Order: sequence, then C-alpha cells, then structure tokens
Amino acid sequence: MSGTPRKWIARTYREGDEEGILELWKAVYPDRRYVPQDWLAWWRWMYRDNPAGMGVIALADHDGKIIAHTAEIPMMMKIGDADVLAAIGLDAMTHPDYRRQGTYAATVELRRQESQKRGIRAEYAFRSKFSYAYPGLSGKVGMFDAATLPKVFRPLDWRATLATQTGNKLVMALGPAAGRLLTAVVLRPAGTRLPEGMTLSQADRFDDRFDQLWARVSGRYRAALSRKKEYLNWRYVAVPDRHYTILASGRPDAISGYVVFSCADADGTITGLIAEVVAESQPVAEHLIAAAVQRCREGKAALVWGARLADTPLAAAYKRQGFIAAPRSKTKLVTACAFSPELDAELRKPDAWFLQMGDSDEA
Ligand SMILES: CC(C)(COP(=O)(O)OP(=O)(O)OC[C@H]1O[C@@H](n2cnc3c(N)ncnc32)[C@H](O)[C@@H]1OP(=O)(O)O)[C@@H](O)C(=O)NCCC(=O)NCCS
Repeated sequence: MSGTPRKWIARTYREGDEEGILELWKAVYPDRRYVPQDWLAWWRWMYRDNPAGMGVIALADHDGKIIAHTAEIPMMMKIGDADVLAAIGLDAMTHPDYRRQGTYAATVELRRQESQKRGIRAEYAFRSKFSYAYPGLSGKVGMFDAATLPKVFRPLDWRATLATQTGNKLVMALGPAAGRLLTAVVLRPAGTRLPEGMTLSQADRFDDRFDQLWARVSGRYRAALSRKKEYLNWRYVAVPDRHYTILASGRPDAISGYVVFSCADADGTITGLIAEVVAESQPVAEHLIAAAVQRCREGKAALVWGARLADTPLAAAYKRQGFIAAPRSKTKLVTACAFSPELDAELRKPDAWFLQMGDSDEA
C-alpha cells in the first residue's frame, strides 16, 4: 500500500447520498452515458426495493465528497440444507485520485460490520473484467475463489456474431461460411419435445407455481440463490432498464421448468441472453432453451448467450442445443466468504454451486 495520508473517513450510506454516488460512478467509468433519472430508477430498484432488504452500502467521504463505494444486496440463499440470509457484493469503486490508500479494504470492513448487524451470514461476488487486473483484491478482504461459470453462445447469424468478436478481414471473409458448415454438421441442435400433456406458455410474472417448482428442485443444490417468486419478480419483472421474457413449461396448475431471457441491442448487435433456466429434467431444460433461441431468432438476434456449470444436466442441455464454449476470458469467476465454519465448508465445495447468468449484475 502506498504511504499517501488518508484524508477521508469511512461511513455508511445516508439518505440523499445517491447524487454523490452517481458523481463517483462518472469519475470511475467516464466513458459510459448517464441519464440521471434512469440511473436513479436503476439505483432505487437495485439498492432500495430488493425484497430481502435495503442494500448495505459503505462509503469513503472526503469533506462531503464521496470518493469510494462498496455495497452488497441481501439475498436469501440455500446453503447446505438451510435458508440463509446472504448478500451479493457489487459496485466496488474508488475515485482514481484516491486509489491504493486502503480505501476499498476499509469500506469493505465497515460494510461487513453493518451486514453482520443485519444478520447476513455469507457473501459472494462475481469478479468483473475490471477487477481481474487486481489479483490480490479478493484475498485482501477474505474472499476465496468459489466457482467458475463458463459462458456459452449459439450463433444464429455467423457474420454478425464474428463481427462482434473480430475486425480481421480474412476471418470475416471465410468465417461465416465455415461457421454455417459447422452448424450444419457438428452443432446441429437436437430435436426437443416436452413430456406428454405438457405445454409451453409465456408468463407475465412469477407466481406460486414457481415457488412449488423451486421447492421440488432446490434439494439438488447446496449453494444457490433461493429462487422464490419475490426474488424472481424483483430481479426480472420490476427491473427498470431491461425487458425479460418468461416461458414456463408444464400443466396449468404445475410447472416443470422455466426460462428467462432477453433479446436486445448490445453495441449495435441484437443479442439474446438466457438469464436463467430452472427445470425438473434435462429434456425440459432443452426444450426451454430451444424455445428461447427460437424467440431470439424471431427477434433477429445474431447470437444467444448462456452460461453453464461443468458436468451438470444444464450444461448437457446447452451443448445439445448447439451452444459453443466461449473463450475462457469470458468465464465469470465467483468469490465467496462465510461467517461460520459450517457455511464456509459448504461454499468451498465447487460442485455445490448452482449459478446462472442472472445471478450476476451483468445479465
Ligand atoms: C478495484 C478498486 C476498487 C480498488 O480500490 P482501492 O481503494 O485502490 O483499493 P485498496 O487500496 O483498498 O487496495 C486493496 C488491495 O487490492 C489490490 N489492488 C488494488 N489496486 C491495485 C492495483 N492497481 N494493482 C494491483 N493490486 C491492486 C491490492 O492487493 C490491495 O492491497 P495492498 O494495497 O495492501 O497491496 C479501484 O481500483 C477501482 O475503483 N477500480 C475501478 C473499478 C473496479 O475495478 N471495481 C472492481 C469491480 S469488482
């Protein structure tokens, strides 16, 4: 750590700090576009309206100017056999003029004190492309590497897909034809069918049927967000800046699975993104993935992203639906920490984790 004297104090969030937090965002990510009322709507949704409680926010303040921010959002998790109040860490940032003064470490310490008062018993965070540059960052605040979530994608329009990845003229000249050949010969998606008597329908929101499905399937997982309707409605329906489609399979009174996806313009390319799939069986998962891909195709998407955990039925379902592993640089890394030995032991088992793209703030 540098010897720069500290002129700031660490403190928790106070009502009205949003303005100063937005100024910090602008200083840390100056290339992004900010529409203050949209940012505020997003902030309120993310930090205030979360069903498991207000975000825990710690700041560094230099004479009234917010110069660092770290936060977490409470979430119910299933860890081992118990429902546990946990939190996902987000939006760590220190103003460029104040870095390497121990600001991040100090604000995380304060945030932990606050979160323990609130009864939060474990944390996890997705490391972002911004934090990969600082390998010591997570260890410094006691987080261990818990799981990896490799991304997969299915090209629907090879030319447009390649254009998102390369500007190389040779690749652009030969790639689309090679890609189409690959799709026809190797990546041809398997046919899918729902079990007898089941149909697919679109839902506007998550209701009791989704809770019943989670109650039936959650026994398979030992470290997963609790996917109950309150969380799902907040995460995918109330979110202000993205539209998600929900498709459910099953019978009118009981569902066997669901998929949540979006199809939107991302840097000039229409891109599909499967945020989560929860299903009773692999054939149901496959059918849901195929249906989401079909909807994205109708929406003129160039490609569809998903993510899979190695050796799971969901990974097999993505593979059978023609999804290809993305470069390792796109893999999402998850770090975690727990405040009791029992929870710590559970979270250190890499096979325990059930994670999806929608569990991160990227989707
Ligand atoms: C990442 C970030 C929040 C760190 O803030 P900071 O206040 O400078 O961090 P600290 O001074 O408390 O450093 C904590 C530890 O992180 C690591 N670290 C931080 N900056 C580093 C750098 N530039 N190079 C290498 N390691 C670094 C070190 O292990 C450091 O401990 P040490 O100083 O005792 O060696 C800040 O650089 C930032 O805002 N970056 C842009 C946004 C971002 O990447 N956010 C993270 C998203 S998860």
